[in-house]
Amino acid sequence: MSIVAIIGLQWGDEGKGKITDVLAADADLVVRFQGGANAGHTLVVGSKVIRSHLIPSGILHKDKISVIGSGCVFDPEIFDKELTTLKKLKIKTGKIVISNNAHVVFPFHKLMDGLKEAHLGKAAIGTTKMGIGPCYSDRVNRIGIRVSEIINSKNLKSLLIKNIDEKNFMLKHRYKQRPISLKKMLDWAEKYKEIIKGYTGDTEVLINDYADKSRKILFEGAQGTFLDLEWGTYPYVTSSNTIAGNIYLGGGLSPKYKINVIGVVKAYSTRVGNGPFPGELDGEISELLREKGNEYGATTGRPRRVGWLNLDLLKFAVLMNGVSSIALTKLDVLSGFDEIGVFTGTKNSGRKKNISKAFLKTNDLKLKLIKGWQPNLGDMDLYKELPKNAKSYIKFIEKFLNTKASIVSLGAQRSKYILREAIWK
Ligand code: IMP
Repeated sequence: MSIVAIIGLQWGDEGKGKITDVLAADADLVVRFQGGANAGHTLVVGSKVIRSHLIPSGILHKDKISVIGSGCVFDPEIFDKELTTLKKLKIKTGKIVISNNAHVVFPFHKLMDGLKEAHLGKAAIGTTKMGIGPCYSDRVNRIGIRVSEIINSKNLKSLLIKNIDEKNFMLKHRYKQRPISLKKMLDWAEKYKEIIKGYTGDTEVLINDYADKSRKILFEGAQGTFLDLEWGTYPYVTSSNTIAGNIYLGGGLSPKYKINVIGVVKAYSTRVGNGPFPGELDGEISELLREKGNEYGATTGRPRRVGWLNLDLLKFAVLMNGVSSIALTKLDVLSGFDEIGVFTGTKNSGRKKNISKAFLKTNDLKLKLIKGWQPNLGDMDLYKELPKNAKSYIKFIEKFLNTKASIVSLGAQRSKYILREAIWK
């Protein structure tokens, strides 16, 4: 199939960037369809470590086109920074097209994000403070400003007046802060117009044209299924739809095309930010997992919460995304554990098979212990080389999810993975 999607089946940070980077080698277009600079991808190419937040991971392939789709919120400052970093690292990048329809993250969105979180105190979501929620809120409130309005700035002043007016009311009365300066924002927009103007376009036309010609398109999801605005642990979610269904909306792909969805599953669980996390562990095992897996947020540096796999939730994620196979990542991190836990269901079997399971406590779950393995997996290139217990762990997951692990990733380096079946069919 010529359309493939990479979707996180947990709470983000599953290692989607690495899988996208690997699959992008054979793609023509790499498209982000939701989220913004809240995503955090760490890519290791040779001796270079590249962290990207906004630009699709496909950027590292010089003959590909990377698309920031209309369902994304676009932060020109981060875009500029990421491009500059790539240039400094002397990485030959591919072409980039930003949707005219994507909404622009202004500095005041980040300001409002931080102030709102502080105001919420203990009830805070634990956002990345990248302005994602406030920007998507403006979109829904119909006061958002799109990339096309920055480029063709005829109406920009009146749009900004309307937008800033509401915020200044909040800044003055709720947050006791100085108002946003219209002039500063117009200057800001003018500056970034010059930087982004060569990169914008009607991405939905490009995407459907490529799909029509059966050229290879890779959709790169950000965050994960349980951070989905609709199907995640609401309200502790991000502000966009992270599941595969949103590819048709946020990517602008016509629903007549079928997508081969690869669900990315980290071999254990992590969550960054607040909210329910059934399967979360504390104590020694969690510290060990965090250190071995370097589980610190790529965007905020926060230590990630960690736990064993919650297979019951993964089953739900497989269904909601129409997953055809999974990419199991960071299996190497589990080397050295005598036993590895997996949560296989709830102690109270009367629970429904739906999203309500994502709100349970770890204590409500049934734990099964599987024998671990000692050898380091980092040097193994073939499935048959894996220790017997590592293969048993993979098989257990596959059987539970009724889904094959088509990719097994064994380290951060681009080359460290085992491909068990062709993805581009
Ligand atoms: P926001 O997307 O910044 O509004 O944050 C909302 C929630 O999503 C918070 O719990 C964040 O920690 C989480 N989040 C956002 N982006 C990512 C990501 O790329 N990986 C993991 N968690 C994320």
